[in-house]
Amino acid sequence: MHAIQQARIDFPFTYIIAVASLQNHERLGKLGAHKTFDYKSSSLVRDVQNLGRDIRKGLDCHSEGGSTVLAAECMVPGENATVDGTYGERRVIRTLPPGMMSGTLPAGVRASEWILSYTALGKVCSPSSIISRQISNNRKLQPFWFLFKYYPAVLSDYKTASTYLKNLTGLLMDGKVVPVKHRLMPGGLANISQGFDEMRSGRVRGEKLVYKIGPT
Ligand SMILES: NC(=O)c1ccc[n+]([C@@H]2O[C@H](COP(=O)([O-])OP(=O)(O)OC[C@H]3O[C@@H](n4cnc5c(N)ncnc54)[C@H](OP(=O)(O)O)[C@@H]3O)[C@@H](O)[C@H]2O)c1
Repeated sequence: MHAIQQARIDFPFTYIIAVASLQNHERLGKLGAHKTFDYKSSSLVRDVQNLGRDIRKGLDCHSEGGSTVLAAECMVPGENATVDGTYGERRVIRTLPPGMMSGTLPAGVRASEWILSYTALGKVCSPSSIISRQISNNRKLQPFWFLFKYYPAVLSDYKTASTYLKNLTGLLMDGKVVPVKHRLMPGGLANISQGFDEMRSGRVRGEKLVYKIGPT
């Protein structure tokens, strides 16, 4: 939901195709998706291809099971395509490392990149250097590990996120960005396993679970 809103703000002329469960289609349309499709539909790939759009970039916000391969298949021009199937490259960016992907990508689509949200916070570390660097405001940055690996800082991510967060209050007040729904969980952190159970059983859709820390 957030990705669609940010795409609409940062790339206002980009045609946005969202793949989500049916129950969220209306909401995603209101947030900025031009077309919505159900990932459970057996005709998903054909239906997206039939739009006749030259789809070059995808963002897989699920990145589990075969979701990346499914997104990639949607991007390959179909049999009756009027778009060029060979020129340039098609990319799916994931939210989990490429090594965790299941299935085989169709030719002409790559999915070798992934987003790590910590880079937006200015976190920094490279394999050859554990020296904290400084960014414009002289704040010392902390090295970090994630999934058993060091990742280099991406200064442009930090700058983009800083600009976005500076603008966020105005965007929220003008209704241009709507927060993802949240559900305050009773009992605070003591009941966190209940939330995990709900997530595992697929009952947390289109919302975030929030826990109070300390007395509840
Ligand atoms: N790299 C990072 O920094 C980072 C940060 C946070 C999370 N993650 C990872 O990103 C993934 C998503 O996390 P999230 O918190 O954003 O989850 P989320 O809010 O539940 O969003 C997941 C999205 O994927 C859709 N989806 C669910 N099942 C799908 C399927 N089988 N095929 C295609 N789409 C499907 C959902 O649509 P419906 O609700 O309509 O089904 C929803 O729009 C997780 O794997 C998480 O570990 C990565």
